[in-house]
Order: sequence, then structure tokens, then C-alpha cells
Amino acid sequence: MIDIFDNFYAGKRVLVTGHTGFKGSWLAIWLHCLGAQVVGVGLDPESERDNFVLSGIGRKIKADIRADIRDGEKMKEIFRTYRPEIVFHLAAQPLVRLSYEIPVETYQTNVMGTVHIMEAIRATESVRVGVMITTDKCYENKELLTGYKEDDPFGGYDPYSSSKGACEIAIQSWRRSFFNPADYGRKHQMSLASVRAGNVIGGGDWAKDRIVPDCIRALEDGRPVEIRSPKSIRPWEHVLEPLNGYLLLAKKMWEHPTEYCEGWNFGPEQESVTTVWEVASLIVDSYGNGSLKDVSSPGALHEAQLLLLDITKAKTRLGWKPCLDVGRCARLTADWYKHYREQDVFSLCVREIESFLGK
Ligand SMILES: NC(=O)c1ccc[n+]([C@@H]2O[C@H](COP(=O)([O-])OP(=O)(O)OC[C@H]3O[C@@H](n4cnc5c(N)ncnc54)[C@H](O)[C@@H]3O)[C@@H](O)[C@H]2O)c1
Repeated sequence: MIDIFDNFYAGKRVLVTGHTGFKGSWLAIWLHCLGAQVVGVGLDPESERDNFVLSGIGRKIKADIRADIRDGEKMKEIFRTYRPEIVFHLAAQPLVRLSYEIPVETYQTNVMGTVHIMEAIRATESVRVGVMITTDKCYENKELLTGYKEDDPFGGYDPYSSSKGACEIAIQSWRRSFFNPADYGRKHQMSLASVRAGNVIGGGDWAKDRIVPDCIRALEDGRPVEIRSPKSIRPWEHVLEPLNGYLLLAKKMWEHPTEYCEGWNFGPEQESVTTVWEVASLIVDSYGNGSLKDVSSPGALHEAQLLLLDITKAKTRLGWKPCLDVGRCARLTADWYKHYREQDVFSLCVREIESFLGK
């Protein structure tokens, strides 16, 4: 595979939390292909057709550990055993609608889980770089027509969004208190950043109440796709776009530990900021036959209508930029779902990463 990171990850000990999930499984596959020694920490996958299960990545990486990030002592023990050098923290309860049903668990996993990972990092000298994955929903959403910048205030209406806002505040606090760039080399050797992606789509996601899995489930059953919030506008991006940003950022943090330890937005270009209806139409068209049905209702749970990210900082300071427009993003996503039944899914993912890198 083309290595756009100049062999940086080859042989590095990299710990990924949430490796059994959608984004984490793609990250583990990419890191494995780059030659990293990947240790994954997560709960059991949700279904037999998750990307993690079908790709068999758990059997290829150095260690596939099933453990709960709410157990702080267990996290320290895992870090002590595997001595990671780079940590990508993705494990979370990531669903807005589910967070209304289980708000306490959402906070325990997202906020205290993040604190436990930072404490495990603090207790493990080998760690040099920590990239903490939050979300675009961490910002106080004022439904503005302009994108949120990295220094805009955190907030959140629903328990998921606000838990990620709270994660951001905790990350900022741990960076100031324990991993302060001003103390680098004297009191610690750590560089800690947080990253905020938009609405991520791609193959192998089967989460409840997310638009792409909803589309595929309906298309596979020959039903119309029911759209709850057709007019909601989101920054859509393929899963490989933010992962490319996280990998690039971690490399830069390793090379310049005091320069990049802050918050970063990894969203799409403006033309990929579009409605749920539009994205569902693109998925249906790329997949084949199917239809959409508007099932919006006035009494529905609150979900943001408009959410945009400003990505100027990542473009100018990291040299990162999105490669795919929303049409290509939908085609690459549909490609996985069209082929996962009859093809070797690990090879399918590698081919998709190669096709992405070719852009
Ligand atoms: N998918 C998106 O559109 C999107 C957008 C922005 C940010 N994010 C963030 O990216 C990260 C990954 O999201 P995803 O879509 O891959 O989610 P996912 O639900 O597919 O994966 C979540 C992962 O976290 C693990 N996990 C959950 N609770 C855990 C616990 N208590 N202990 C250990 N592991 C636990 C799961 O086992 C799984 O591996 C999350 O932090 C999410 O908030 C996702």
C-alpha cells in the first residue's frame, strides 16, 4: 500500500480504543497496513457483519483486547503491559438518539472513559502522542450558517453532544495541568490533541439511527428508506478523510511535540455540506434501486438542523485537505455494502484505502 506517512508508523506501538467499532476498525486496518503494532481496546462488536468481524482485523493485529474504558485500573494495566507510544482514543457511546435513553451511561463512557484513558497515559511513560476523538457536536450549536472554529465555545443540547463538549473541557484541563507544552521535556514527554470530525460515512457501519445503515437495511429488505430529518444539514465525509487527518496529526505531534497539541476540525469542503435527504438519495443511486420516504414529525426528539465545521486551520497548518466530494464519498460507501457478502472484506477495505489514496 502507498505510505503517505513516509514509513512513520512502521514498527510503532499504537493503541486504538474502539477498534471493534466502525471508525476504529478502519483505523486498525490502515495502521496494520502501515506496519504498526496495533493494540485494540474495545467492547465486543455489535453484530456479525460489522467491519471489524468481517475484515478479521482482530486476528491480524498485535492484541485484540475486550475491556471497558469505564474501568480505570484495567486501562492502566493494559497500558503498562503493552507500553504504547501513540494512542488514538475513539471508544465512546456515539449515538445522539440513544443518549436520550441512556444519558448516564453515555456520560460514564464518554467523559469518565476519556478521563481514564488520559490517566492511563499519564501513568505510562512510553506514550508520546494522544489523539482524542470527540465530534463536531462538541460545539455549542447556534444553528449558524458559518462553520465552527476550533476555539468556539463547547456545549451541546442532547446528552451525547454535551458529553463530548465535556470531554473537550477535560482534555483541555489535562493538557493544561499535566501535559502542558510549556513543561514539555521537563515534567512530561506527551503531546495531547483533540479532533472533531463531521458526519462520517463508510462501509461496515450498522449503527442504529444513522442514515447510511438505515438506507442499507431498507434497501436490503426492499423497503423505502424512511427519513426522519430530511432537511437537516450535515458535514458529510468518508471515514478515511478524518482518519487521514488523525494519522497526519499524530505524526506531526510526534515530530514537533509542542506545536500541534490543541483542537482540530477535520470536516468536508463546503460542497459536501448538504441535507440528509440528498445524502440518502446519493446512497440509493450508488447502491442501485430504491426509494426514500419522508417520515419527519413535529414531536420528534431534538436533533440539530444545521451544523458546519470550519477546516481552515487543518488545511493551512497541517496541509490536510479532504479528497472526496459527497458524490464520490457516497459511491465509495455504497461499494462496501454492495460487495461485503461475496468478497474478502479485508481486501475490500485495503482496496478502498488504496483508491482513496489514489485521489
Ligand atoms: N461516526 C460518526 O459519524 C462520528 C462523527 C464524529 C465523531 N465520532 C466519534 O468517533 C468515535 C468512533 O465512532 P464510531 O462511529 O466508530 O462508533 P461505533 O459505535 O461504531 O464504535 C464505538 C467503539 O467504542 C467501543 N466502546 C463503546 N463503549 C465502550 C466502553 N465502555 N469501553 C470500551 N469500549 C467501548 C465499542 O466497542 C466500539 O469499538 C466516537 O468517539 C464518536 O463519538 C463519530
